[in-house]
Amino acid sequence: MNTPVWHPYSHLKTQAPAPKVVGGESAHFVLESGERLLDATCSWWCMIHGYGHPRLVAAIREQAGELCHVMLGGLIHEPADQLARELVRITPAGLNHVFYSDSGSVGMEVAMKMALQYQVLTGNPGKAKMLSLMKAYHGDTTGCMAVCDPEEGMHSLFSGLLPQHHFAPAPTAPFDATAEQVEHDLHALRGVLEQYHHEIAALLMEPLLQAAGGLNMTSPGYVAGARALCDEFGVLLIFDEVATGFGRTGKLFAADHANVTPDIMVLSKGLTGGYLGHAATLATDRVHNAFIGDSPQHAFMHGPTFMGNPLACRVALESLRVFEEENYLGKIARLSQQLQHELLEDQALNAHPAVADVRVLGATAVIEAHSAETLKGVGDFARASGVWLRPIGRWLYTMPAYITSEAEITQITDVMKAWFLRA
Ligand SMILES: Cc1ncc(COP(=O)(O)O)c(C=O)c1O
Repeated sequence: MNTPVWHPYSHLKTQAPAPKVVGGESAHFVLESGERLLDATCSWWCMIHGYGHPRLVAAIREQAGELCHVMLGGLIHEPADQLARELVRITPAGLNHVFYSDSGSVGMEVAMKMALQYQVLTGNPGKAKMLSLMKAYHGDTTGCMAVCDPEEGMHSLFSGLLPQHHFAPAPTAPFDATAEQVEHDLHALRGVLEQYHHEIAALLMEPLLQAAGGLNMTSPGYVAGARALCDEFGVLLIFDEVATGFGRTGKLFAADHANVTPDIMVLSKGLTGGYLGHAATLATDRVHNAFIGDSPQHAFMHGPTFMGNPLACRVALESLRVFEEENYLGKIARLSQQLQHELLEDQALNAHPAVADVRVLGATAVIEAHSAETLKGVGDFARASGVWLRPIGRWLYTMPAYITSEAEITQITDVMKAWFLRA
């Protein structure tokens, strides 16, 4: 289709024509041609209830009849207030304050600004850099690009524009790692903190699952150890739960696996069930209360036009209700077991020479190939079997909607395996 729409992450010369989506239901979206595709990625991991969920659609309709939008500068409305209360209730204890924005990237920008201003307000103006991890991905805005993996990430072209931050090695200990394996990773993190803590405002990480940077999974022990190191070195801890939040790692938040409360936590994607773009940056009393003071510097100078949009807040509230009433954590546990059985236990797949590793955590599964070349053509191959797959680099993954049926999960894992095992 000829269109003025400029697609993301696409090479204009080689990109295939984008099929036109006209609707969707449950785990499938529907193309203009009538073709139904089972979405193995749930639209960049946000459509956790699938498409066309009647309760979510009704919530947006009802809210649209009452109030579509109003600024949050100096005003408040019921959906924003209620959602903030709910987020405080469900997130790790101590995250009592909610700052809204409109996307995961902006939510992370807010988190970084908040951390830096906190350090200024508490007498540490020299702590003006971030500490991030290799393999990290935190978004595409300028501030976020600067804390994405500077080598394997996709933003090296912009290095001249970006502020320089510190990076620690990506954790290598798997989810079920031994204490020694975790210690090895924490030792590397400690090394960077020892050297640079005086100039670091915050350590930011995607807890347990570094998503777009290569679906790298690690241990709750690493997350808990990072919390202790941050306390030791006077550095704030920011969890980017944009991808991991709302069940993706098997618990409501990845932080819950480690019983850790970060100082700041960012949510987006599944927050609204994917139905509208929105984000929330939560902070503890310690961070929030540092902003109570008399100087002009005490005001937090950020305020996106669409922060706290009533439609987004209302659908987020409904999404959460469905999540809890329909025991989504139970669904995710079943889905995870099935992914483990069908992928981790497949000997032919795991022994295949093109396969570097196979990993499953919660409702996330990845087959890591040795080379991105191996995955060329996999999208078309899957589509011929009715499945929408879109690998990232050398990682062929699924992050399905939580309502995906057992038979549909098998359809996804069959096509992922068949790509490697076909004659
Ligand atoms: C962990 C993480 N942080 C931040 C972002 C950026 O979110 P957005 O695309 O909504 O700006 C993403 C998006 O994939 C993500 O996975």
